[in-house]
Amino acid sequence: MGISLCVFVNFLLVVVILNVFSMNTVNYVVEGAQSISKEEDMELGRQLKILNKPPIKIILSAWGDTYDCINIYKQPAFDHPLLRNHKIQMKPISELEQDRAQTSIFRARVERFPEGSVPIRMTEKQDFIRARLMSSTVSRSNDPSEYFAGMGYQNKDEKFYGATANMSVWQPNVTLDQYSLAEISIRSGWNDQSTRIHAGWMVNPMLYNNDSSVRYFIYWTAGCFNMLCPGFFQVHPEYTPDMPISDPSIYGKILNIIGYWPAEVFPLFGSVGAKRIYWGGYSRESEDGHAPQMGSGHFPLEYGYGKHGSYFTSMQYYNASGFLLDPNEKLMIKVLECKKNYDVEYFGFVEEVGHIFQYGGPGGKC
Ligand SMILES: *[C@@H]1O[C@H](CO)[C@@H](O)[C@H](O)[C@H]1NC(C)=O
Ligand SMILES: *[C@@H]1O[C@H](CO)[C@@H](O)[C@H](O)[C@H]1NC(C)=O
Ligand SMILES: *[C@@H]1O[C@H](CO)[C@@H](O)[C@H](O)[C@H]1NC(C)=O
Ligand SMILES: *[C@@H]1O[C@H](CO)[C@@H](O)[C@H](O)[C@H]1NC(C)=O
Repeated sequence: MGISLCVFVNFLLVVVILNVFSMNTVNYVVEGAQSISKEEDMELGRQLKILNKPPIKIILSAWGDTYDCINIYKQPAFDHPLLRNHKIQMKPISELEQDRAQTSIFRARVERFPEGSVPIRMTEKQDFIRARLMSSTVSRSNDPSEYFAGMGYQNKDEKFYGATANMSVWQPNVTLDQYSLAEISIRSGWNDQSTRIHAGWMVNPMLYNNDSSVRYFIYWTAGCFNMLCPGFFQVHPEYTPDMPISDPSIYGKILNIIGYWPAEVFPLFGSVGAKRIYWGGYSRESEDGHAPQMGSGHFPLEYGYGKHGSYFTSMQYYNASGFLLDPNEKLMIKVLECKKNYDVEYFGFVEEVGHIFQYGGPGGKC
């Protein structure tokens, strides 16, 4: 199975599921409890109250997560200090209303989200605690227990205003304290203050109550996953940024715009654009120093070109005038950490598929 992902800097997230490709399924059980101090507990309670808006209705999804139907004009993004007066972009919504007329991906057809509402996964205290643990790590800067295998792009004469690619979807094996993902990320710079947006798929039981299904995710600078912080406006009446891709009700469907970040959330991108784009796989090892599978769990070319390989194709970017362009092949940089257990094979620009590379591997001690 493959997905096509598009991250615009100002600021739409488009997700399209492509053809069924291949997927391994495994079920893992892990332990997720964490302990916190009393003050932290109270602070979390306060945040939860802000985040969990009073729902119009509550729906249990086919995949077991509980979703609140929230009035689209009362969603948590309005709690972002710069977005109190934000006007939701209506155009995508009216286009998407047509989707609603088709079948509901949530369990029962009668269980539609009421008109004018969007599904937002109900947040529990443990979600915050896990996200906090995670966000101290996902920062792609200097955590020695995380590994990237993919391609980077940078051109000193140019700024990027979005990036896109088609990528294959897999279900890598992970344990309790590991995760494995594939993503597009755009960055305003390299230091800790730089702005970053990540979007892709991940297997991350730490973040999802022992759940090791493959899910879409978004993650941005402030340490925010999906809808856990105000900032991302959800406009799609059914699809959410944390949805499991493997659920049969979603499998093979075309998704449209799920939502967007207003430019105010990323002042740096708005004014100067992004300086670097990364496409690739990213993993975190367990405490005993074992890195999980990345992608399909096979090295690129292990079975020859195109078979069982985890791939990215059609990697492109948006320039300041909104043109979708192919990167300059000479400026593509291979980025590979933990060479023993992962690899990257870049094939350059290939007719019909565009820029293409394979990545991933079995994991192990790095
Ligand atoms: C996760 O799995 C472990 C082991 O089966 C169990 O003890 C724990 O309660 C589970 N946690 C959640 C949040 O379901
Ligand atoms: C995942 O791990 C289990 C248990 O070690 C193994 O049986 C299974 O083959 C693994 N799956 C993949 C895709 O490697
Ligand atoms: C974006 O790309 C198009 C097509 O190559 C070009 O005409 C335009 O000048 C570019 N815009 C900027 C700001 O570089
Ligand atoms: C990538 O996805 C887009 C959107 O679904 C599709 O039109 C395009 O053909 C795909 N490209 C490749 C190389 O698969």
